[in-house]
Amino acid sequence: MTKLAHIGLVFGTDTGNTEEVGGKIAKALRAYGYTVDMMNVTEVTSVTLQQYKFLIMGIPTWDFGGIQEDWEDFEADLQLADLSEAVVALYGLGDQRGYGDYFVDAMGWLYERVLATGAEVVGHWPTQSYNVAASLAFNENKTEFCGLAIDEDQQFELTDSRVQAWVKQIVAEYQRCALAS
Ligand SMILES: Cc1cc2nc3c(=O)[nH]c(=O)nc-3n(C[C@H](O)[C@H](O)[C@H](O)COP(=O)(O)O)c2cc1C
Repeated sequence: MTKLAHIGLVFGTDTGNTEEVGGKIAKALRAYGYTVDMMNVTEVTSVTLQQYKFLIMGIPTWDFGGIQEDWEDFEADLQLADLSEAVVALYGLGDQRGYGDYFVDAMGWLYERVLATGAEVVGHWPTQSYNVAASLAFNENKTEFCGLAIDEDQQFELTDSRVQAWVKQIVAEYQRCALAS
């Protein structure tokens, strides 16, 4: 299947933060010359996802490690997707002071499911500027999250600089993947 040159950015949200941060990510990517299609997970199917070479998926965590409900509803569809030719970057929203034992857990849940589609996942992000006891989005030695972690509740002042640095990182990773394919 011919892939769209666009980046597909899919988010789920309960109170709007993940959409707002998605808008910042899309704006930063557009400044690099990319076209970004922003879509609520309620509007997409596995076929939609398969049209893109580059995907970004955003998910907040709710209720002590719970999955945002629209992403939970999408799980079966995601399992149908063959993303073996796609490069996926994840971002997750959470609150590290209120939920320090469950910080951005849903991003870890999504990571497992995206890996199962055959996708390559880029955009891993250092944990050093956060104060978190436990997260399903940690790697084994807790040095990295599986994607960009954003905390609009406790560290909103860091969001813009985190988005800028992460987008710069994933653009470099996209270019490396595009050259390799
Ligand atoms: C009742 C409640 C439960 C929450 N549970 C978690 C949680 O388990 N882990 C976490 O990291 N953040 C948790 N949060 C924080 C939200 O993920 C955070 O506010 C996020 O920005 C919401 O994103 P949204 O507006 O896109 O839905 C919780 C917030 C509330 C109000």
